[in-house]
Amino acid sequence: MAKTRSRNIFVCNSCGAQSPKWQGRCNECGEWNTLQEEVVVQDKGRGWVSKEATSSEVVALNTSEKSDAQPFQRISTGISEFDRTLGGGVVPGSFILLGGDPGIGKSTLLLQMTKGIGDQNLKVLYVSGEESVQQTLMRARRLKTVSANTFIASESNLDVIIELTKKMEPDVLIVDSIQTVYLSELQSAPGTVSQVRECSHKLMNLAKSSGTAVFLIGHVTKDGHIAGPKTLEHMVDTVLSFEGDLHHHYRILRSLKNRFGTTNELGVFQMQSGGLQEVTNPSELFLEERSENPQGSAVLASMEGSRVILCEVQSLTTPSPLPMPRRNTIGFDLQRTHLILAVLDKHLDLHLANRDVFVNIVGGLKINEPAVDLAVAASLLSSDWNSDMDSKMCLFGEIGLTGEVRGVVQADQRIKEAYKLGFTKFIVPFANKKHVADLGPQLLKSVQFIKSVKELPRLLFPTGAMNRKPSKGREPAKSLDLEF
Ligand code: TYD
Ligand code: MG
Repeated sequence: MAKTRSRNIFVCNSCGAQSPKWQGRCNECGEWNTLQEEVVVQDKGRGWVSKEATSSEVVALNTSEKSDAQPFQRISTGISEFDRTLGGGVVPGSFILLGGDPGIGKSTLLLQMTKGIGDQNLKVLYVSGEESVQQTLMRARRLKTVSANTFIASESNLDVIIELTKKMEPDVLIVDSIQTVYLSELQSAPGTVSQVRECSHKLMNLAKSSGTAVFLIGHVTKDGHIAGPKTLEHMVDTVLSFEGDLHHHYRILRSLKNRFGTTNELGVFQMQSGGLQEVTNPSELFLEERSENPQGSAVLASMEGSRVILCEVQSLTTPSPLPMPRRNTIGFDLQRTHLILAVLDKHLDLHLANRDVFVNIVGGLKINEPAVDLAVAASLLSSDWNSDMDSKMCLFGEIGLTGEVRGVVQADQRIKEAYKLGFTKFIVPFANKKHVADLGPQLLKSVQFIKSVKELPRLLFPTGAMNRKPSKGREPAKSLDLEF
């Protein structure tokens, strides 16, 4: 077959203008630093075209079972928390990116996966650009993830990796990591945006044409991007993020994008001396360090995909020495915190304008669903009024701007799960009353319904907020000579 001629050009990110040489500024649109290196190939009749502009087979979309498209059979990773995050296993021919901070456990997770796949008599090729074959072997032996169907290579030249894959035809290819592989036809260093883009493009084509599922590891940069702003994320089918605090042993595997499943599911692991262990009941882990009758701590029953996870919301309010008091949140949206503070200020006279406010979802969890609002409000009240929360209380509900508490989805499931873990008092949106009617009279006795945040103090502290010391709000401005 005749060799395809290729050459490198530079394309402006902003206007698409092409230039044979790199320049700091685009001649066409005048934008700075927008020129990116690209490889173009000579195509008969079309001249020099981008490698991406290749023609393809066209299949009619029809409902017939006999159509050319085969239904895919997912491959189990052998790790149920991992399968859950992927939406039921690995889709053959899919291209999956696993991102995370260096040292969080990405290589460990994928190495452990190789055994699960190998045990099903499927072939895995693990290519590391970071570690030698000996190092990877040692690690695999220590982790007890040795399988006769796993093949290990140490290589960073992508053309060699692709040749190897075509020769071995594995069911799963793992490339560790995108920052270390390179294409020799590009002059730029491994890890630069152009290398990352071209390499991932080649790997994507490999996955789609060969049916090999490709896992690509990517380290997250300081600004939170995986190897260049969103370049990779657009290209892959699935983006998984492995998160956690390096100083704690729990890790959370989250799906940020998934063309073959939902993005709500998450997997929880613990990093131990023998590698990553699955955590099948994460609620116990997230609540294990909770104290008795805590102040400023509320427990929320949160829906993460199809599973209920109980987690602790902690708040702290203290007098602020600053003219602009601090509002810090971890694992929860800052804008929503502002909103809840404003609602509490208006409806419960909670003046926090001159106090620092900190909100934390314990355990490195990030909660995006609005059901967390009521737990945040409760923990704020408890902290600001120095009042003990009932440690057996669990609550959830969305707070609206007029102070109303809105219903949430799957209220009955949340209550059932919390009850199983020993919670015996529930504060639940009134709008969910009809959804929880089937829980049975015994369980319903422990449920209190709430319509507005105004009812929250009475429900949280039925014997009166004994230690209540209302925070002193700043005096309202009376004249124009304000003091800031
Ligand atoms: P690694 O998978 O190499 O991280 P990444 O590929 O994301 O950079 O994991 C590195 C960390 O995991 C390392 O700092 C130590 C820890 N670790 C354990 O605690 N136990 C283990 O069995 C292994 C393999 C790693
Ligand atoms: Mg690694």
